[in-house]
Amino acid sequence: MRFRRQGAALVVDAPAKLNLFLEVCGKRPDGYHQLETLMVPIGLCDTLRFTPQPQPGIELRACFACDADAHGFPPGDDNLIVRAAQWLAAATGCRLGVRIDVLKRIPPASGMGGGSSDAAATLVALNRLWQTGLSDDDLDALAARLGSDLNFFVRSPQLAVCSGRGEIVEPRPLRRALHFVVLRPLGGLATAAVFREYRPETARPRSVAPLLARLERGSISGTRDLLFNALTAPAAQLSAEIAAGLQQIRAAGGAAPLMTGSGSACFCLCNGARHARWLGGRLRQRAAGRVWIVCTGV
Ligand code: C5P
Repeated sequence: MRFRRQGAALVVDAPAKLNLFLEVCGKRPDGYHQLETLMVPIGLCDTLRFTPQPQPGIELRACFACDADAHGFPPGDDNLIVRAAQWLAAATGCRLGVRIDVLKRIPPASGMGGGSSDAAATLVALNRLWQTGLSDDDLDALAARLGSDLNFFVRSPQLAVCSGRGEIVEPRPLRRALHFVVLRPLGGLATAAVFREYRPETARPRSVAPLLARLERGSISGTRDLLFNALTAPAAQLSAEIAAGLQQIRAAGGAAPLMTGSGSACFCLCNGARHARWLGGRLRQRAAGRVWIVCTGV
């Protein structure tokens, strides 16, 4: 998450994420799934501009890098950005208002966490702008109530292992930038539907530890072999675009492609920036869907 001042307004770049590893470790009594996942922020960002208003009220305006994304953006109080602002105001008794202009580049229903990142940016930005003075722990607690992925974005690490519902964030160092090509098929997937479709395939969940060790050693090909996402099978049950997207990446020359989160976006971990530009160029010519060439960090 990156902040800059523009007059009275605060502008935030809210990054997308990729899951390099996602294991489901069981179902919880509250209906959620216990996860172990490794996430990185990437340079594909939404941009939010927060302009303080003297009267109470949250005004949200959105524009879209891709027109097709407009219908996947919930209006009014159903929007996570609005809810985050309302919850912060309610939690702190703040009587100020804000106008929020968002430029959406991260496609919805893609497993890249755009909605969660925007909401996390809203909590952090408004806590500064309204001077509501919530501590990092207070913000963490609000974030966890709003959704499972928000805490990762509130903390804004380079790399993190997330557990629980996803809200327990353990930041880790990232020794070198990682380069990716991301393919978002034309259709998206709803997270809840993918989790509903999930059936355990093995009695013993995989551990993220071997992947972390490989990443530490900086071996890209070794790292690629350990990428994993337990939600791929249920997502592929719901959409033929998942298998097609993974196959398109392979056919373009990308090894060991993976779906991110609950899909529908898929990605390839590349050997470096040149490899990513090469693969991204080939995919843009061939694939059905949108393609980004990105690296870790914002
Ligand atoms: O927490 P969030 O609102 O992002 O989750 C969306 C839905 O995905 C939840 O309502 C739940 O059905 C499912 N989910 C889950 N286990 C998780 C995270 C999400 O079952 N750890």
